[in-house]
Amino acid sequence: MAADLWVVAAAVVAGVFLLDVVVRRVHEWARMVPLGAVRRARLPPGDMGWPVVGGMWAFLRAFKSGKPDAFIASFVRRFGRTGLYRTLMFSSPTILAVTPEACKQVLMDDEGFVTGWPKATVTLIGPKSFVSMPYDDHRRLRKLTAAPINGFDALTTYLGFIDHTVVASLRRWSEPGAGEVEFLTELRRMTFKIIVQIFMSGADDRTMEALERSYTDLNYGMRAMAINLPGFAYHRALRARRRLVSVLQGVLDSRRAATTKGFTRSSAMDMMDRLIEAEDDRGRRLADDEIIDVLIMYLNAGHESSGHITMWATVFLQENPDIFARAKAEQEEIMRSIPPTQKGLNLRDFKKMQFLSQVIDETLRCVNISFVSFRRATRDVYVNGYLIPKGWKVQLWYRSVHMDDQVYPDPKVFNPSRWEGPPPRAGTFLPFGLGARLCPGNDLAKLEISVFLHHFLLGYKLTRTNPKCRVRYLPHPRPVDNCLARITRVSDEY
Ligand code: HEM
Repeated sequence: MAADLWVVAAAVVAGVFLLDVVVRRVHEWARMVPLGAVRRARLPPGDMGWPVVGGMWAFLRAFKSGKPDAFIASFVRRFGRTGLYRTLMFSSPTILAVTPEACKQVLMDDEGFVTGWPKATVTLIGPKSFVSMPYDDHRRLRKLTAAPINGFDALTTYLGFIDHTVVASLRRWSEPGAGEVEFLTELRRMTFKIIVQIFMSGADDRTMEALERSYTDLNYGMRAMAINLPGFAYHRALRARRRLVSVLQGVLDSRRAATTKGFTRSSAMDMMDRLIEAEDDRGRRLADDEIIDVLIMYLNAGHESSGHITMWATVFLQENPDIFARAKAEQEEIMRSIPPTQKGLNLRDFKKMQFLSQVIDETLRCVNISFVSFRRATRDVYVNGYLIPKGWKVQLWYRSVHMDDQVYPDPKVFNPSRWEGPPPRAGTFLPFGLGARLCPGNDLAKLEISVFLHHFLLGYKLTRTNPKCRVRYLPHPRPVDNCLARITRVSDEY
């Protein structure tokens, strides 16, 4: 009897194995045949997996089990260090680019590649945002929106507000009786306040809260499977998008109504005003849905990553007393160097913070908040001698570049000193991407993080409630308790 059971079990296992092999082979064949023999032979190695699912299952398993690097490592193990691999992701045939050279070539080729975000992301962020708008519109709107957030003059304008917001936040969290706070949640609120001020100055607290709550749901849905059924993250994210559209439409309506009635705003022109007034070469203004999609994208991109990186940089500093001491000494030195007549730090002082900048770069490298980026080939392109066929998607794995031990020895070790010496080789450091889609908020983000760390290093201490808390990697790396901690003020001088 027992022997019979074993035979049945063995037959079932063999059957499943055979089925797996057959389904994979047929799927591979169906995807490869349309390319023709010559092009097929030039594809990078890889595995198309099962229809629809492809590499998604392995990707989600790696990230959800806390081993995000296991996904790409499995391709390297099976096919060698070829730098490019083929698979199926988000139901599209996709090339994974995982080395600096491959990423750089794709990112710098604007004719061969356009953005290729999964349909679900485009639906959530908005079809009229940068994630899917045509090339010329992107160039025009990028020019219009990037200059007012980056660059010396813009950052000088924002520094005062950022500083005030940071100081007030730290004081509030460390007040006697404040108890434990979800440090990450609070930082996200803080960075959100800053970006809302830049884009929609004067937004009231109710608008701010409504927007902020919706963004949390939107983000969770962004890297989830696109299953639009109650209970699934994507379904909640779609609802969050509808709420965001409705809140932003309300703000836009009241701005337009105020302009019609001839009211002038007390505060300076913000990004919403700029978008309302922008005209293309033919004098066409942006429609409401275009303005709303651009705002949804900017408000999201402008607070999530900065909030997370600020949290991780603080945690890394607190966990590494030697690095903390060196970073603090630099801040004290800068404080001593400012003339007594100068009130607070200016942008030039922040530019002098060499070691703090290394701490932030190392945090960006280790954390990989934007671990992957998406493109689509507009024609056949050869990269590293391999073909990326026209119409195929490309995933740029920034995370693999930053975690490659041939580029960064001991990649898992947090070591800001590795940034001493000449700047990194092109394509080896991509936290903000590269080329025409380079993050337009990179300098603003670094300034926000620096202002926070400046005050933190000089006057505060973080004590985590669960220092060994598990890290969740999707949609962004974060401790599952959102970094529950006590913030203590340790110096009265600051
Ligand atoms: C630590 C903070 C940040 C990180 C790590 C980060 C990372 C990135 C990356 C990697 C990209 C390129 C995506 C691609 O290659 O397709 C990007 C694009 C973008 N980022 Fe950031 N970002 C940060 C902060 C910000 C801030 C503060 C803003 C807004 C003020 C912002 C706005 C944007 C926008 C609008 C894009 C799309 C650019 C385009 O398609 O032309 N980001 N970001």
